[in-house]
Amino acid sequence: MAIPRTSLVLFLVSMFFDSTFAASSSSYNVISFGAKPDNQSDSTQAFQAAWAKACASTKSASIYVPRGRYYLRSVTFNGPCKNNAISMRIDGSLVAPSDFRVIGNLVAWIMFRHVNGVTIAGGILDGQGTGLWDCKNSTKDCPNGATTLEFSNSKNIAITGLTSLNSQMFHVVVNDCQNLKIKGLKIIASGDSPNTDGIHVEQSSNVTILNSHISTGDDCISIGPGTFNMWIENIVCKPGHGISIGSLGKNLEEAGVRNITVKKALFSHTQNGVRIKTWGRPSNGFATNILFQKIVMDNVKNPIIIDQNYCPNHKDCSSQASGVQISNVTYQDIHGTSATQIAVKFDCSPTNPCVQIRLEDINLTSRKNQTAQAVCSHVEGIATGLVEPTSCF
Ligand SMILES: *[C@@H]1O[C@H](CO)[C@@H](O)[C@H](O)[C@H]1NC(C)=O
Ligand SMILES: *[C@@H]1O[C@H](CO)[C@@H](O)[C@H](O)[C@H]1NC(C)=O
Ligand SMILES: *[C@@H]1O[C@H](CO)[C@@H](O)[C@H](O)[C@H]1NC(C)=O
Ligand SMILES: *[C@@H]1O[C@H](CO)[C@@H](O)[C@H](O)[C@H]1NC(C)=O
Ligand SMILES: *[C@@H]1O[C@H](CO)[C@@H](O)[C@H](O)[C@H]1NC(C)=O
Ligand SMILES: *[C@@H]1O[C@H](CO)[C@@H](O)[C@H](O)[C@H]1NC(C)=O
Ligand SMILES: *[C@@H]1O[C@H](CO)[C@@H](O)[C@H](O)[C@H]1NC(C)=O
Repeated sequence: MAIPRTSLVLFLVSMFFDSTFAASSSSYNVISFGAKPDNQSDSTQAFQAAWAKACASTKSASIYVPRGRYYLRSVTFNGPCKNNAISMRIDGSLVAPSDFRVIGNLVAWIMFRHVNGVTIAGGILDGQGTGLWDCKNSTKDCPNGATTLEFSNSKNIAITGLTSLNSQMFHVVVNDCQNLKIKGLKIIASGDSPNTDGIHVEQSSNVTILNSHISTGDDCISIGPGTFNMWIENIVCKPGHGISIGSLGKNLEEAGVRNITVKKALFSHTQNGVRIKTWGRPSNGFATNILFQKIVMDNVKNPIIIDQNYCPNHKDCSSQASGVQISNVTYQDIHGTSATQIAVKFDCSPTNPCVQIRLEDINLTSRKNQTAQAVCSHVEGIATGLVEPTSCF
């Protein structure tokens, strides 16, 4: 029996639509929830409402933020959600309150919690932090400040092409997350802004940071306790305090750090290059299997440094030794200039000396045309290839 032509067409059309709709995602534009890109109307509720829809969707969902400036008091994107594929495309800027007191005591201005499978592409996060910096600079009675963007208890996250401007405190925090990838992040804050770490990661695994440019007033990237399998590649830190593993060992019981790779980085006019830093206090923490490779230093105060005697204000730790065991750290193909005479400094713990430290193809010269030096205490290691300044192992 011949099928009538129109029925066949309708049948094919309906098949096409069924499969298209089944595979396609729901899309939510924040404007249709009442967000206003005018830099002053409060768009907080609109963003929360768009998230609530995307999170409740049983199929993949996307949130779209068109061009313009959206004032947000503070937002929390909570999971768990009914799907694990929410993408957020941001063509505009999200603007924090310029009065720092509004968010100054929050953990984070923009917080993602208990989410799985979230992608953020594009966007400028304007933390409006300068007021708080001035406050901290002139008096002591200021709030701590909020992190601009935090991911907590989350997994399978990708962030690409995001810019964070003038955060009150840390720009991006990754806490208790698995499988998180950051690509093409730009961080911009003044070199003298207090506590404005670029990216801080802790209690997390499988975190990757690629192709990112960080200019800030504190650590460009800091790696806290409980972090493992982390890969950092193609980073410019200019200015800032460098890439730091630590501070570790603040607590007696503390998860260790292992398998961290930092590859291809440029540090320019920074306080440190690659640093490992621990408190001078008892702790069962550790840092092991760490590789720093293909790094250029341009006028860096402490290009290569391990400091196990961190004790700010000499409180609760002076004359104590760090319990953190540092082992298997390789520095390979690192060259450029040191802004001070001491280009390599290993100041390890007298009770837990650093072991298996390896220097390979290092050429650091002192900018002031003095001979650069390496200083060591409580460290055991080997040097291979050209190592300048001469190692003190
Ligand atoms: C947006 O508003 C902030 C105050 O919250 C102000 O500092 C800024 O200059 C405004 N930007 C534009 C482009 O209007
Ligand atoms: C803080 O004050 C010092 C000294 O007055 C100044 O050099 C620095 O630029 C100030 N920092 C900020 C962020 O305003
Ligand atoms: C992290 O990566 C490792 C090595 O690629 C893999 O074996 C492991 O399953 C990953 N962990 C998670 C939580 O995905
Ligand atoms: C170390 O971490 C990398 C990711 O940064 C991962 O690919 C690799 O499998 C990890 N190695 C071990 C021994 O877990
Ligand atoms: C030392 O760490 C590297 C990673 O940096 C790892 O590949 C190697 O297996 C480790 N060596 C030992 C003896 O654990
Ligand atoms: C080390 O670097 C300096 C400055 O770039 C350079 O003049 C010198 O030739 C290098 N040394 C070696 C052995 O490559
Ligand atoms: C740097 O020191 C070397 C010898 O140590 C000397 O030959 C050279 O002229 C000095 N350069 C400058 C710019 O002072």
